[in-house]
Amino acid sequence: MPETAAVSADPASSLAGTLRTAIASVTGLPAEECDPQIRPSANPQFGDFQANFAMSLAKRIGTNPRQLANDVLAKADLTGIADKVEVAGPGFVNVHLSGAALASALDALDSPALGIRPVAAVHAVTIDLCGVNVAKQMHVGHLRATIIGDTLARVHERLGRKVWRENHLGDWGLPIAMTLAALRRAGADLASITLDDLNRAYRAAQLEGRDDGAGLVAARAFHAGPHRIAELEAQNAGAAMAQEDARATLVRLQSGDAQLVADWQRIIDCTMREVFETADVLGVHLTDEHSRGESFFREKLGPTVEAFVKAGLGTEDDGAIVVRYPDRERPMLIRKRDGGFLYATTDLAACRFRVQELGSDRVVYVVDARQRDHFKDVFDAVRMIGWTRLPDGTDAELVHVPFGSVLGPDKKPLKTRSGENFTLKALLDEAIERGTHEVRSRSTDPNAPTAGMSDAELAAIGRAVGIAAVKYADLGSDVTRDYVFDLDRMVSFEGDTGPYLQYAHARIAGILGKALDAAAHSPPRPVISVNEPAERQLALMLLRYPGVVRDVAQHNDPSRLCAYLHQLATTFNGFYQQCPVLKCEDAALRASRLRLCAVSKHVLRDGLGLLGITAPERM
Ligand code: ARG
Repeated sequence: MPETAAVSADPASSLAGTLRTAIASVTGLPAEECDPQIRPSANPQFGDFQANFAMSLAKRIGTNPRQLANDVLAKADLTGIADKVEVAGPGFVNVHLSGAALASALDALDSPALGIRPVAAVHAVTIDLCGVNVAKQMHVGHLRATIIGDTLARVHERLGRKVWRENHLGDWGLPIAMTLAALRRAGADLASITLDDLNRAYRAAQLEGRDDGAGLVAARAFHAGPHRIAELEAQNAGAAMAQEDARATLVRLQSGDAQLVADWQRIIDCTMREVFETADVLGVHLTDEHSRGESFFREKLGPTVEAFVKAGLGTEDDGAIVVRYPDRERPMLIRKRDGGFLYATTDLAACRFRVQELGSDRVVYVVDARQRDHFKDVFDAVRMIGWTRLPDGTDAELVHVPFGSVLGPDKKPLKTRSGENFTLKALLDEAIERGTHEVRSRSTDPNAPTAGMSDAELAAIGRAVGIAAVKYADLGSDVTRDYVFDLDRMVSFEGDTGPYLQYAHARIAGILGKALDAAAHSPPRPVISVNEPAERQLALMLLRYPGVVRDVAQHNDPSRLCAYLHQLATTFNGFYQQCPVLKCEDAALRASRLRLCAVSKHVLRDGLGLLGITAPERM
């Protein structure tokens, strides 16, 4: 899928284009087989980029790689792009870009869009994110589903694509009916109920509905005392009653009982109020318009199963309907013997809807890695029946982004001290408290940029720091990996953290602020000059930004953006150490360097924005 056009005057793509043409003309191969294999150089000594085409291509056409490299360079006109080009070792081509090329590319990058051009895509992208369950508190797993999904959505939107954010709420089926039935039995007032109450009712309903049939059989077999047997019998009867009540409630809910539907809507509203509040704290854009839960597909479940049966893909198995796969034993159950549908059935219907009704050529599911098998089964079934096909013949791509778990210091799933699952709210409150503490204590230094700020201002910055800490730590490593939740490390202003990036941004804001007086006398877009090695490094780093954004979209991997921004902040620090800016005596050079600072700030801010992290001006 084409992502976007390259930044205009991006030296790496001009270089690639020129070399590709030259390779084609020397080898006689079609241009699409002449990838020059451009990579950034690991060591500036070997230039800025390496072109590694010669080794593989020479082998293919039976010639010497050094000879091929030299022939290609003789044909390639790199004036204006490179100052120096040399062939090294077995046939590596080392390219030293010209300062002028870097300067003019930076000049083009320095625009509101930062060189990111919209893609020419006709189809939309669907991102399945958040995925909360009604009547249950959000926990740390939902943190990941929410913020990874939000970042991918923002990145696609930034690339100009239509994005459908789909919050596939668990709002239908027996667990919900169980909760509703339990609430009714308890005579709960749904008008004033909180999510905590609902959560308790949900858990109580599940416990109530759990019988101990096995325990009873065992107790009888081992001639347990009559008291114990009577106790188990009562428990079993209670459970049977609760289960029966839940099933009856579900039937009434499904048939549209007005009072029950109203109650159901109330518990959804109550849940979503808190979900939206938490999303808001996280800086995630999530509203009612994104909630298309399981219930949305309830009328489509029967027809979905019928379609599979009709296509010969859904077969009967002991009264149930399953889908079987040519390459594995495990079938997927899509209708139970009692006629009930499953989580998988809903996902089949939802997937078809996303491709064929919402017109998406990519559907990305940001869901816990433990659902890997589920999505493999669903995706394969959807492909087998042909529902990935769009009207214009495009075959939609279905992707599961399987994220790992958030662990406590003991490397086990994160729990509170009293052993409960951490609610997301509690976790964010703690992060904000830590962030605020950090910011407040720094502001007591009279030289700190935050010295003398009001309490409200410090609190706002502290909040931004706390949230950045949590989000960056979550998005910053390979999403499939588990990670240990360690607030001390995450909140630190040093190291590979969100606050470090915010601080780098605020520091540049400080530099630009100090230069403001002089800036009044310089032209609005001073000429950029890129000569010193540290200036070159910074320029090359900045120019990589549009490509990194495209990469994140293509690979569904926010950590690439995090890694890039961290490298950018470090490269900027190197530049600032080696190249005087405010103290630079040459006015033109000072103005050029200030512009490098401004572009660096812009890219940091933009990149943090894609991660949904705010960048305060002072810290
Ligand atoms: N509610 C589900 C859960 O908690 C997650 C939903 C994920 N999305 C989907 N299309 N299945 O496990």
